[in-house]
Formats: sequence, structure tokens, C-alpha cells
Amino acid sequence: MDSLTLARKEGWRALVEAAPRDQPEQLTRVQLKALGSKALADYNKSRRIWHANLGPIKTPQLVELHEDLWDIVDSNEQDGDKAKGAIAVDAFPGLGKTTAALAFAKQFHLREITEKGPVTADGHERWPVCRVGLTGNTGMKDFNRAMLEFFGHPGAARGTTSQFAHRALDCAVSCGVRLLIVDDLHFLTWRNRSGVEISNHFKYIANEFPVTMLFTGVNLGRRGLFGETDSGGDIVLAQTGRRTTTLGLEPFLVSTEAQRREWRSMLLAIEQRLVLTEKYPGMLADDLSDYLFARSTGHIGSLMTLINRGCQRAVRTGTERLDVELMDRVKNDAASEAARKEMTAALSGGKMTTKPGVKRGTRPATARR
Ligand SMILES: Nc1ncnc2c1ncn2[C@@H]1O[C@H](COP(=O)(O)OP(=O)(O)OP(=O)(O)O)[C@@H](O)[C@H]1O
Ligand SMILES: [Mg+2]
Repeated sequence: MDSLTLARKEGWRALVEAAPRDQPEQLTRVQLKALGSKALADYNKSRRIWHANLGPIKTPQLVELHEDLWDIVDSNEQDGDKAKGAIAVDAFPGLGKTTAALAFAKQFHLREITEKGPVTADGHERWPVCRVGLTGNTGMKDFNRAMLEFFGHPGAARGTTSQFAHRALDCAVSCGVRLLIVDDLHFLTWRNRSGVEISNHFKYIANEFPVTMLFTGVNLGRRGLFGETDSGGDIVLAQTGRRTTTLGLEPFLVSTEAQRREWRSMLLAIEQRLVLTEKYPGMLADDLSDYLFARSTGHIGSLMTLINRGCQRAVRTGTERLDVELMDRVKNDAASEAARKEMTAALSGGKMTTKPGVKRGTRPATARR
């Protein structure tokens, strides 16, 4: 499912209604060898797709964010004349903002449909969630058009900005939209005229539409979404700020014992999902804990990319397990590669550890580098 298709309600429905993937069967070396070439090709294909789509894993960060989202969205069930509070998930790239927002929206969609039925009182299809992804040059008109396009509205082709807005409002009301997700909000440029326009527009949506807006983006606070920037405030933008609750997502850390336990349980959760014949308990959580932390610096996006690519390589080359030698050949994103050297030095020098129950300063027996 790529994000292009999520620009349409059909794509959204496919995502929501998709049955959970079945984990391919765990075979032994002998069983794997016994497979005929067609069966082997099928098995490897199913593993390829499986490993490319691990998740979302319920990390502590994701669980906490979801709790906050439920609090806010449910508290927004006020009467129509009250402006709804908005939510901004503001965190660095690759920490799982989009993943968490979509996972939440999916649950929300299903709950609304269960409670209220698939069709509204007026006989329209119920679409509890509308998702708009922004691009580098989205202005207000494009924003409204994107909402209309989500619904496949025939009026998305022609019209003025305010006509689009009215049509979108009609759509939102008749389809029972309750949650409007605006992904990658940082693409909007705030400091110019269109930034103020959009901010006012969001206020209009908050006032008029019966929806909770859920923004995701990078560095939204610093960019001035909330009216308080490094260079002073902006009274218009501050109106949006007052109504918006900011939630964050943190990378994994290993400074305290509790954090190290979280890191370990994350690795154990991933480990259970891997389908490699030579997998063994502790493959990630014991033997690659330091290594994976150094290479991902605790960022879930980088971690999952590494694991995914590592598994593809392990299947393709017949290694069928993840170890340092194989992982060293796997390339990762530039940002985590840059941070890796320093982190590796601290870990191998014993200044730092990622493992619970290991004292700092003592090099754990399993640390390989
Ligand atoms: N809870 C999770 N379980 C498994 N994988 C995850 C989880 N959260 C994020 N990922 C993976 O991490 C990668 C990055 O996640 P995502 O795109 O949600 O980050 P983002 O914060 O929206 O990044 P950006 O700022 O670049 O948009 C994705 O490939 C996703 O599969
Ligand atoms: Mg994203």
C-alpha cells in the first residue's frame, strides 16, 4: 500500500479492511532443503513480503501516543458549535509518526463503523477518517482539493478555494468524517502569507467541521505553527497554537535500566516475527543489541530498514540468520551511518551499554564490536 493510494478513500478502506498478514511458517534447514524449486520460490516470496511489512509493533512510544490520541479525540465529542482541539504529532523523521497516526486512524475508523454502522442516517457511506498528505507547494486551494479528491468528489476539478472548502465541508458532514489527518504539515511554509491563510483555514475547519485535526510533521513548533517562533510570535498563528496539543515520539534510549529493558523487548518482539531457518532465541536481543543500537541510534525507522534489508539478504544468500558479518554489508540511511561511529566507540569501549542487567564499564561477553 503506497501513500499515493491513501490519497483516495478506496485506498484507505483497503488499508483498514486488509486482513492481518499470516506469518510464513518457520521451517528448519532440512525442511527448507527439501522444498522443490517452485515451493522454495513461493516460500521465499512470502518471506520477502512478510519481512518488508513487519509491524506496526506496539512499542511503548506508540502505545503511549495512542492513549493520548484517544483521550483527545474522544473528548472532542462536543456539540457542533464548539471548536475542536487539534493534535500535532511533532517528532524527528523516521520515528514512526505516520505509522502511529495511521494505526490509530485505522482503529478509530473501525470503532466508528462498529458503533454507528457503515451508512449514515442520511444514507451516505460513512467515512470516519479523511487523510491528506501535503507536498512542497500545497496552498490552501490544493489542500481543499486534496480533501475532495480523497472522497472522489466530482467537484474537485474546478472551482474557487472557498467553493472547494464548502464542498469539502459538505462531504465531511455527510460522510460522518470525525478525524482529519494532515500528514507532513512541515511542507507548508508558515512565515509567508499563505502560512497565515492556511492557519486561518485550519481554524475555520476546527470551527465549522465536526472533525478533530491530526497533524504530523517535523519541528512544527520551531517552524512557527504554534505562533511562538525563535523570531517572536505571530498573533494569528497563536490562535492555532492555543487549540493544538503537541505530542511527541521519542527514539529508544539506553541511559537507564528501564530504557534498556524497553530496547530489549523491542528486539525480542522483532525477533519473534522473523522467519529465518537459522534464527535462534537471542539472535537480536543478545547478540545484536549493541550493534543494532549503534547503527540505528534508537530510531525505529532506521532499525526496521536494517532488519528488513538484513532479512532479505539472509534469505537471498542462504545465510538464514542475522549476524554482524551479514549486517555489516547492509546499507542504512545516511543519518544513522553518520552517528554510528561515535556510538560504536562508546559501546565497545564499555562507556555505554544497551543491555539490561549489565553494568556500565564492564564489557559484556556477547559484545562483538
Ligand atoms: N511501531 C512500529 N513498528 C514497526 N515499524 C515501524 C513502527 N513505527 C515506524 N516503523 C517503521 O519505521 C519507518 C518510518 O516510519 P514513519 O514513516 O511512520 O516515520 P515518520 O516519523 O512519519 O517519518 P517522516 O518524518 O520521514 O515522515 C517505516 O518504514 C515504518 O515501517
Ligand atoms: Mg511520515
